Amino acid sequence: MPTVRDIRAKAGKEPITMLTAYDAPTAAIVDDAGVDMILVGDSMGNAVLGYDSTLPVTVDEVASRTGAVVRGTEDALVVADLPFLSFGYDEKSAVENAGRMLKEEGANAVKIESGPHTVELTETLSNLGVPVMAHLGLTPQSVNQVGHVRQGTTREDADEILTLAKEHEEAGAFSLVLEHVPANLAETITTELDIPTIGIGAGPHTDGQVLVINDAVGLGDWSPPFSKQFGDVKGEMKRAVSAFREEVESGEFPAEEHSHVEDELDGVY
Ligand code: KIV
Ligand code: NA
Repeated sequence: MPTVRDIRAKAGKEPITMLTAYDAPTAAIVDDAGVDMILVGDSMGNAVLGYDSTLPVTVDEVASRTGAVVRGTEDALVVADLPFLSFGYDEKSAVENAGRMLKEEGANAVKIESGPHTVELTETLSNLGVPVMAHLGLTPQSVNQVGHVRQGTTREDADEILTLAKEHEEAGAFSLVLEHVPANLAETITTELDIPTIGIGAGPHTDGQVLVINDAVGLGDWSPPFSKQFGDVKGEMKRAVSAFREEVESGEFPAEEHSHVEDELDGVY
């Protein structure tokens, strides 16, 4: 069983890899490919649930998807993302929501969009045996406050992110996602922290990289400029779906090899 200790041990020696997944078959593909961690991200809101932000995603939705990902995974560390307003308000419900991902769904850790309000929670959860991945820089659950722009671009903002990074490490976070921040800031944070940094749109100097699976395999309509499309799954699905329709309409499918004739029914049916 993978542990956060394995992830920490890899930092600084080998690049750490993480992709999102939201269902068992996709998780199995990511796991078989040897990716270190699978994030059941609240990016599921945009990626698979049809919303235009992560805000509507519920604890039930993340829990259901986390269970599916866990069942499809053998080796990778599964991290469940805590959705908007499921933490940060009162500690009791945050602990219940986080605990549910491990206790009921089998996740190995949770990720929390971090801020001054999550330092204590990170410490509480870590002490209780719930490993916490912190997340700083662009935190999409704050879209109504900050939009979707790069963070940490001024000296003051960069200082604040560095300070919060240290506070979350001190509180017991086992790693830190840095989203959409300048590469030089991500590099400094990576140097100053002992725990691994996992970047997305944060340049090449973090200990690891994470992408949303839809962006990485080419499944969505849009992906951010800092992402890279490594495949054309959407093109392949379109091709397969069109081929199905055409072959049913032309009578080519189902063919004899897809059908069964029962001898006993010969002459009767
Ligand atoms: O929800 C998500 O997929 C994320 C990653 C982009 C880090 O938070
Ligand atoms: Na997220």
